[in-house]
Amino acid sequence: MTHIKVNVDGTTYEDEVEPRLLLAHYLRDRLGLTGTPIGCDTSNCGACTVDLDGATVKSCSVLAVQADGSEVTTVQGLAKDGEWTALQRAFHERHALQCGYCTPGMIMAARDLLRENPQPTSYEIRQALEGNLCRCTGYQNIVRAVLAASGQEAPAVAEEVTA
Ligand code: FES
Ligand code: FES
Repeated sequence: MTHIKVNVDGTTYEDEVEPRLLLAHYLRDRLGLTGTPIGCDTSNCGACTVDLDGATVKSCSVLAVQADGSEVTTVQGLAKDGEWTALQRAFHERHALQCGYCTPGMIMAARDLLRENPQPTSYEIRQALEGNLCRCTGYQNIVRAVLAASGQEAPAVAEEVTA
C-alpha cells in the first residue's frame, strides 16, 4: 500500500492505496465522488475526464498514486454555493445531454478548451472534444452549448461543421 495525499474539489484526503488503483476508482469507490463516471475499459470514451493540476486527464488512465500531492477537480467541484458555472447552465439550457453519461467528461473537456480559447469556433470545439464520445446527442447541442457558454450565438446548422 502507498500513502497518498490529494486535494479533490477543495477537500484534502489522505489514504493508503494499492499502487495499481486507478484515479477513477479512487474518486468513485474510495471518496464516493460518483459524478465522475466510467464509460469504457479502453480509455476511449472520456466520460471520466477530470482536471489534474490544471491538465485535463482521463482519470481511468491515471493511477491514484500519480495524483499524490496534486489538486484534482471533478465535475462535482465546479458549482460554487449551489450555483452552476456558465458552462453547466449552457449544457442544461441547450439540451446538450440525454442520458447524461458523457456529460461530466464533456463539461471538463470543454472547460479546459474555454480556459485556453475563450471564443472557439464550432470546428475548434469539435476538435477539442474529439476524445469524448456521446452516444445520444449527435453532438450538435453540445457544440451549441459550448458556443453559448463562450458568449457566442450558435451559427446556423449548415455552418456548424466548418465554421
Ligand atoms: S472511462 Fe475513462 S476514457 Fe472511458
Ligand atoms: S448524453 Fe448519453 S452519452 Fe452523451
